[in-house]
Amino acid sequence: MVIVMAPEATQEDVDAIVEVVSAAGGSAFVSRGVSRTIIGLVGDVAQFGALNLRGMRGVADVMRVTAPYKLVSRDNHPERSTVRVGGVPIGPGTVTLIAGPCAVESPQQTLEAAEMAKAAGATLLRGGAYKPRTSPYAFQGLGEEGLRILAGVREATGLPVVTEVVDAHDVELVASYADMLQIGTRNAQNFALLQAVGGIGKPVMLKRGMNATIEEWLMAAEYIAQRGNLDIVLCERGIRTFETATRNTLDVSAVPVAQRLSHLPVIVDPSHSGGRRDLVLPLTRAAIAAGADGVIIDVHPHPEQALCDGPQALVNGDLRELARVMRQLPPLLGKTAV
Ligand code: E4P
Ligand code: PEP
Repeated sequence: MVIVMAPEATQEDVDAIVEVVSAAGGSAFVSRGVSRTIIGLVGDVAQFGALNLRGMRGVADVMRVTAPYKLVSRDNHPERSTVRVGGVPIGPGTVTLIAGPCAVESPQQTLEAAEMAKAAGATLLRGGAYKPRTSPYAFQGLGEEGLRILAGVREATGLPVVTEVVDAHDVELVASYADMLQIGTRNAQNFALLQAVGGIGKPVMLKRGMNATIEEWLMAAEYIAQRGNLDIVLCERGIRTFETATRNTLDVSAVPVAQRLSHLPVIVDPSHSGGRRDLVLPLTRAAIAAGADGVIIDVHPHPEQALCDGPQALVNGDLRELARVMRQLPPLLGKTAV
């Protein structure tokens, strides 16, 4: 069951609902969005029916929900949401370009990659300080040193930072440097980590698990929302299929499907899905044409020396075309590139 509060509802009104629900043996999870507060109820629905919640002060609507996710569902929140990251919008009406190195390797490499990203029109900088690697012998990232480098490059370029957190114990540390926390495909169903980022008060980009259905992805987002954080951006990054020509298969249909089911913004990672430089621009065009609210793209000044994912990084020569796509495609769809 979901309670939608009226825009003028006060904290006292919300507290009163939490109190009656708890007294009835249920749990109430409060999520504050930009325009309104939603309370998700877990417990015996029949018992909640006896509480006359609809008649309580500040309540705009009470809905029974059948979907296994409630707070991120569009049923209870028909307008699509915009998430702001350091003032940069991600949501309907805009196409946001996030770009930067796959991994932070050095101050020089990160700054060069950020300048390349900015020149292509990026308004947010990506870069991993903690890298989730398949092999324990592969480069694992610079850790906190990488976060410091990202903060320095943000200072130098003005680009807010998106960076991955892989361990629930590091959430506070990463959040103290990042403007948006990224949950990668390998941790997309790490429920303790999802709950930890849900409680930290910073926007979260949740990648789709490479083996997850869209419903499982939305339930993962619900874990974050349930802890009170509705500033979630979903990222389709390719799924495992029988195809071996590409690293993963970009599920373009996931964009409109997820946007229809959830009010959260949906972006696409054309770099990690295809895993090949020559596919990044075609997949970027496909993502924007399918209605993606943004794209997140790897760039590297010297991909042949990259410590992670060099083959998929765009180089300087590709950036003019990326900038052209960002300039020309969004307006054709009635959107603005940011
Ligand atoms: C990059 O961002 C990931 O850490 C990388 O794609 C992991 O893949 P790999 O460790 O299999 O190279
Ligand atoms: C990344 O974006 O750095 C990353 C590790 O991506 P994914 O989780 O999609 O593999």
